[in-house]
Amino acid sequence: MKLKNIAILFFLFLIIISCKKQNNKQVPVRGLITEKAMVVSARAEASKIGKQILAQGGNAFDAMMATDLALAVAYPYAGNLGGGGFMVYRLNNGEIGALDYREKAPLAATKNMYLDSLGNIIPELSTRGAMAVGVPGTVAGVFEAQKKFGILPIESIIKPVINLAKKGIVVTKKQEARFTEKREDFLKTNKDTILFAKHWKAKDTIVQNNLANTLSAIMKNGPDEFYKGTSAKILAKFIQENGGIITEKDLASYKANWRTPITFNYDDLKIISMSPPSSGGIAMAQILKSVESFNLSKLGHNSTEFIQVLAEAERRAYADRSFYLGDPDFIKIPQSKLISDAYLKDRMKNFSFEKATPSSTVSHGNVDIIESDETTHYSIIDQFGNAISVTTTLNSGYGSKLYCEELGFFLNNEMDDFSSKPGVPNVYGLIGAEANAILPEKRMLSSMTPTIVEKNGKLLMSVGTPGGSTIITSVLQTILNVHEFNMTMQEAVEAARFHHQWLPDEIRMEPNRFNKKTIKSLEKKGYIINEERSPVIGIVDGILVWPDGTLEGGADSRGDDAADGF
Ligand code: GLY
Repeated sequence: MKLKNIAILFFLFLIIISCKKQNNKQVPVRGLITEKAMVVSARAEASKIGKQILAQGGNAFDAMMATDLALAVAYPYAGNLGGGGFMVYRLNNGEIGALDYREKAPLAATKNMYLDSLGNIIPELSTRGAMAVGVPGTVAGVFEAQKKFGILPIESIIKPVINLAKKGIVVTKKQEARFTEKREDFLKTNKDTILFAKHWKAKDTIVQNNLANTLSAIMKNGPDEFYKGTSAKILAKFIQENGGIITEKDLASYKANWRTPITFNYDDLKIISMSPPSSGGIAMAQILKSVESFNLSKLGHNSTEFIQVLAEAERRAYADRSFYLGDPDFIKIPQSKLISDAYLKDRMKNFSFEKATPSSTVSHGNVDIIESDETTHYSIIDQFGNAISVTTTLNSGYGSKLYCEELGFFLNNEMDDFSSKPGVPNVYGLIGAEANAILPEKRMLSSMTPTIVEKNGKLLMSVGTPGGSTIITSVLQTILNVHEFNMTMQEAVEAARFHHQWLPDEIRMEPNRFNKKTIKSLEKKGYIINEERSPVIGIVDGILVWPDGTLEGGADSRGDDAADGF
């Protein structure tokens, strides 16, 4: 190559480099930008169906029903008919609210149902098979939301989902790995082999005719089909034949509940998140309010001091979570005290940048009570300006692994989110107390944190994630990434995450994504760093409203997540 050509190439290279840098910052990486409406979910098929519902004139609540049910088809790992979830909404007039369609304990449930005669936990009883199943809430939830706010006929919403189940979903590489990993569990849990126990490979197409039939019956007969109709009879019989205790009466009495979301301010943001029986909103409020007085942007993103202050606030909030939180219909939660400035200031008063506060010295705070892991999230903003944030789950990946072939869906293992035995950790290592003990018809404590953020009274963001106990800390880091560190939505969801949950006393970090020097300096201060436990922390999806009104979708590349809109 001639010298002149080399010089031209070098010059072009310099231009590209200088274009990539602005004020020493990489040019922001933005996700999908649309003018009017956006859906971001764990699967492209679900986001597309949600978008189509919006494009034909539906609103966010119509799109919720379509997206949720499409996830049950395309993402059986966490999308579901056999699970439950939470939805937080903000209408275009600023009105806010929340819907709880969490599973509940069956009528025959008892406090010690997972303990043997010596009081020890019976391995796997609350995590695998029919005894682990809570009464599902998803069908009730999507119908309740659509009935209250939706505008399209049910048929036009569910039809495309039925077509997807009949046409089939194409297996992705990540999906292939998950099917392979869980295959043994599928075979061990189910009496007969099941559709998903086949050796599915990437690019194979899975047709789900039985699920399509169930969805058709639900489309025709409404939620009663699932809770009182033929499907209810089949489901109760199936669960009992497999050793479970859910009856037709349990299904018939299930109701989704409207709740008042948790709201709090952080700087000039108003954060609207899920209230109990999720711990998400309260714990996030405690953590963010505890760190609000620190200049986080000055400390630097994922710097030693930033990680310290956040981890210490998380440690204290998770200690409170364990003690105080549960189903508000069954226990009294000192909610306003737990998120009050004075209480949180007191909780952080022994924090020091010099060294870690050992969790053994942190218990729940003293509050006077007056009175005697795998999930999926989607965010939707519609062309009318309504926003919803929905997190839904079977609890573990594919829930209890029990699959009702006749109806075509997996059943949750949400009963493990109760504290089976106070002081003994669940699948997420979370320790629970009396507040979250099992009682008939009680809802188990959750970490799901579907969240909407306002800035100066205007919609700013809809965000959430799966990840069990790490949900709360993933969501709040994403909000801080945008607010404190000026990241785009896509950058904010992709950024490396860490997590502290009081016990075990360690900071979990996504492996090889944190500066080694930072890790060393944290260790010197007494923190235990665990880069092995969680290869990924959260798969965050969100939508950010830019000042010019355009929408940016942040679809986390840790999953197969995708944004779609117009
Ligand atoms: N099953 C996970 C959660 O509800 O937090």
